[in-house]
Amino acid sequence: MSISMLANYSLETLGAKFCIDNSWPLMVSALDSMPDKKYYNTMDYGAADGGTSLELWRRVFQKLGHKDIYHIANDLPASDLMMLSKNLNRLSSEFESLVVFMQPGSFYKHVAPRASLNLGLAATTMHWLSRMPGKLTEHIQANKVDGIQRKAFRKQSLNDFNRLLDLRAWEFEVGGQFILVDLAQDEAGHLLGNNDKDRDMFDTLFDIWTELYKAGEISKGVFDNAAFQNYYRTEEDVWQVLNMPHHRESWTVQEMSTKITSCPYRSKFDLDGNASEFSEGLMKTIRSWSEQTFRTSIIEHGENLAAINRLFEELQKRILGDPYKYSMDYVHHYIRLIRR
Ligand SMILES: C[S@@+](CC[C@H](N)C(=O)[O-])C[C@H]1O[C@@H](n2cnc3c(N)ncnc32)[C@H](O)[C@@H]1O
Repeated sequence: MSISMLANYSLETLGAKFCIDNSWPLMVSALDSMPDKKYYNTMDYGAADGGTSLELWRRVFQKLGHKDIYHIANDLPASDLMMLSKNLNRLSSEFESLVVFMQPGSFYKHVAPRASLNLGLAATTMHWLSRMPGKLTEHIQANKVDGIQRKAFRKQSLNDFNRLLDLRAWEFEVGGQFILVDLAQDEAGHLLGNNDKDRDMFDTLFDIWTELYKAGEISKGVFDNAAFQNYYRTEEDVWQVLNMPHHRESWTVQEMSTKITSCPYRSKFDLDGNASEFSEGLMKTIRSWSEQTFRTSIIEHGENLAAINRLFEELQKRILGDPYKYSMDYVHHYIRLIRR
């Protein structure tokens, strides 16, 4: 499995929390337009260890007042379920009428009973694909290539998004609100770690990965096999799926915008100039979600995992050597759907 995040995910991903916090205005609109009910069912899809969304859910539950709430947090079984349970218990200790559940499974299946959900969040998670649609021989991320290899990932992503919306339509009650904070590629071509000002994050990782191959630290098989099982949808991609007749029947698109969230590690460095802290923080946040992809490729070929440390040590060294040229800005679609 090449998808799971490292332990300490939420401690090392300050930016992902800010991206979630930016969805608060959509949450307020969702809460204000939800029908009044005796109890509510809420869902955090792909919650990782639950730390990055904890503050947002706290605000949601405060706003819902003294209503009974059944809150579910979903992620893959390989994720940090121990930390997730701790974070969920922290929340439930603060609200007497809140009961929390963990759903350890793939959101490519039903993860809640039929027509049960009133409010759901999927943050920085549904860009992960249900399967690897092919190989990338000239890069490690599908949005970074053109031609037939990108096409296969795009096709898989659109099919997956279609499937995800069908599955969610089954789970949400009529009037239910589904908020997606979805990693994206914007009209100018920007995406995670690419802002036109600094060095492209995926190019940098690929460059170091290539150096490791040329130095004989990984084989050609390991080199070729490492690619992220994800794709960042463009606005056109999203509308192509949302405009399908069966989704127009199931969902109203209430809001849709694209937003860039600046890299918090870089913002802090711009203020305090502490390059050593910056290089470590930025490297760790990139490592938290990317390591598993490289690690899986090495393990599948029975090779030496030492190359993993070399990859991230070199990344940190490069950042430290030229700190004003590195960052990881986020590009997201913020989408609010209402179940019809
Ligand atoms: C970058 S983390 C985002 C975590 C959190 N939502 C946030 O915004 O900080 C992506 C999460 O999606 C989860 N994920 C990926 N594919 C999934 C699937 N098919 N079903 C459930 N979770 C999945 C990963 O395990 C990971 O925890």
